[in-house]
Amino acid sequence: MRTRTTLITLLCLFSFTIGRGQQTVDSKDWTTIENGEMWLDNDGYNVQAHGTGFLKVGDTWYMIGEDRSESWNPDVNMYSSKDLVHWKWERKIIENGVTHPELGKSRFIERPKLLYCKKTDQYVVWCHWEGRNYGASEAAVFYSDNITGPYKFHWGGRPLGIKSRDCNVFQDDDGTAYFISTTNENQDLGLFRLSDDYLEAVEHTVLFPGERREAPAIVRVGDMYFMFSSACTGWDPNQCKMSYSKSLKEGWSPLENVGDRIAFDTQAASVLRIFGEKQTTYLYVGDRWMDPTLPESKTIIFPISFDGTKCDFTYSQKFDINYKTGEVKR
Ligand code: DGJ
Repeated sequence: MRTRTTLITLLCLFSFTIGRGQQTVDSKDWTTIENGEMWLDNDGYNVQAHGTGFLKVGDTWYMIGEDRSESWNPDVNMYSSKDLVHWKWERKIIENGVTHPELGKSRFIERPKLLYCKKTDQYVVWCHWEGRNYGASEAAVFYSDNITGPYKFHWGGRPLGIKSRDCNVFQDDDGTAYFISTTNENQDLGLFRLSDDYLEAVEHTVLFPGERREAPAIVRVGDMYFMFSSACTGWDPNQCKMSYSKSLKEGWSPLENVGDRIAFDTQAASVLRIFGEKQTTYLYVGDRWMDPTLPESKTIIFPISFDGTKCDFTYSQKFDINYKTGEVKR
């Protein structure tokens, strides 16, 4: 259900225009992103898109995520934005127990992620499809000819028969796509290479066996892959760890701590690449869960940078970004 903040619409619109506290556009080319408050969409409703997945089409970011308005049984919302600040409500792409009867009412979706498959000219959603006690340990796949849907249900189950929980997707620069998830009762991470149409898992590689990682997010920096992940502590934040490799399937470095011991009160959801005329900037996107309730969980964005195999993972409560040049000012 879409819920308004306690502020009346007029007040929302007024504060939005003058800078609504958390995020403002302060000049033509610079955008200010400020963390810590609930985002509002263009209609003045709370943005509900947790465990977020992004896809950039032209100059527009599409964002999907869990609608936690009612805490459990999350639906999947889609928003769009040109600056990661002003969010236009697009639609509810999956409404639990309504749009996709195959899913059943008692099951729910976490961490929905979005891909575009050039070969089929289709948009594909992979997500964690779960039951109350996290015993189902399944994934589900949806597809559409249009980014805003409607999305058809393709399949739900354990990829290649493997129990699968927290998840993400990664599309490599050559177009090969992967589903990555927490497998084997939270012991390992599983890297699943997808079929050419992105609808099936076709190959499984075990990563970080026994390390008990979840909330994986991969980004490619030049010819190096970096992966961020958390430990498994429910909704409580914990130490974010990073690993790097020149191959997705092997050679990952030992996990190393980045940021403070609770990842600045976040858990990884995505890492975005901003290709500017002067530089490429990387934006870490994480969930600040239970802030203080589940529906009030915040989406947090801050720039991170890489130097060889090192990652500077420093929190910014507020920063400016120039999408044209790629520059950031903290
Ligand atoms: C941590 C996961 O990262 C979340 O997606 C969610 O499954 C919670 N655990 C549930 O406790």
